[in-house]
Amino acid sequence: MTFTPEFTVDKVRAQFNALHQTHNDLPVTFFDGPGGSQVPESVLEAMVSYLGHYNSNLGASYFSSQLTTQLVTDARNACQALLNAQSADSIIFGANMTSLTFALSRAISRDWQAGDEIVVTALDHYANVSSWQQAAEDKSALVHQAPIIPNDGSLDVEALLNLINSNTRLVALTLASNTTGSIVEVAPVIEAAKRVGAQVYIDAVHYAPHHLIDVQALGCDFLVCSAYKFFGPHFGIGYVAPKWVQTLRPYKVEPAPELGPARFETGTQSFEALAGLVATIEYLAQWGTQGEDLRTRLVESYAYYNQYETALSEYFLAKLKLLKGVRLLGRLDADCAVRTATFALTFDRISTKEVASALGQLNLCVGSGHFYALGLVRQLGIEADGVLRVGLMHYNTKQEIDRLFIALQRLLHL
Ligand SMILES: Cc1ncc(COP(=O)(O)O)c(C=O)c1O
Repeated sequence: MTFTPEFTVDKVRAQFNALHQTHNDLPVTFFDGPGGSQVPESVLEAMVSYLGHYNSNLGASYFSSQLTTQLVTDARNACQALLNAQSADSIIFGANMTSLTFALSRAISRDWQAGDEIVVTALDHYANVSSWQQAAEDKSALVHQAPIIPNDGSLDVEALLNLINSNTRLVALTLASNTTGSIVEVAPVIEAAKRVGAQVYIDAVHYAPHHLIDVQALGCDFLVCSAYKFFGPHFGIGYVAPKWVQTLRPYKVEPAPELGPARFETGTQSFEALAGLVATIEYLAQWGTQGEDLRTRLVESYAYYNQYETALSEYFLAKLKLLKGVRLLGRLDADCAVRTATFALTFDRISTKEVASALGQLNLCVGSGHFYALGLVRQLGIEADGVLRVGLMHYNTKQEIDRLFIALQRLLHL
């Protein structure tokens, strides 16, 4: 008989000790998921167990080294399921998204020439902009930046499409904004890029905790994400499309091998992070039918996350409507197909930094500033104060949102 566990937020929260702590005798509420999510006990246990019993390097014949070697294979397989990659050989590892992007940008740009054109966006985190700006500068290539639509902080896809032409070598864009939460409709962009033979490099860092990635459906050349944004350890994961795994020439440092995904990796990986990563992907898949394969369980589980997060967004947006002196930079639609439950706010009479600091005193953990979405804050002329970002995850609750709005009400209407 198959068994499908029922998703409830209480069952989720029971797995996170961090959510039940107090600080200065006050409960703690984490609203900064887009900056880094909390980590369930199963992931912590996997990491402690690895370091406590099996810490070793690859390739030796004793038990812990063999387990470590197997762990790398297991982690690539789990990531293949997470991204729906064609093969585990398309999965590469690195310290974080930025390091992976920088290293890949050097390899991808090796044969760029003067007159080549690159397209980046004003919605992106600058890890996916400045790596390309530097690579382009080295090759005298031209960089175009697609703007955002000012009133809802989403990407101007039409404007981006107009920037793609026969000189375009690469389009680098995000699947979702870490600042306004808007989801980007990437399909027409990928289609247009393919038509002119340009490569597509996708930042899925903010998207990954909210939506299940499918690199085959996307048809992208490269995609990167970071496990610490989806309930795991600090670790970067990259996807390299099969046709590039052997043909791209990374700047290799010995002992990186000639063949396979490890040719993109430098030095010894964080094996404890890999142990945590495998456990994280199991955590994400836990609401799927037991006995099914990992990808199927992920698909089923993410359906719960999507439904729950849309309900959280609806609740948040309804509360926000009642609050005066605050503006949302983002979409008013709660549907998770168009936005994540990440909200960028600005205030009429008080700086975002002051609001974040006052909320922080109450252990209402939010961030303020530009979150490295530098194109966005510059286009809007709000670089100095940025936005207050409230980032909800599937472990947050309506009661926590109530706490936030009671505090905001008091703060804004003294
Ligand atoms: C959308 C987005 N892209 C890229 C990054 C950089 O990721 P990492 O910290 O793994 O280098 C972040 C980090 O906040 C992000 O939110």
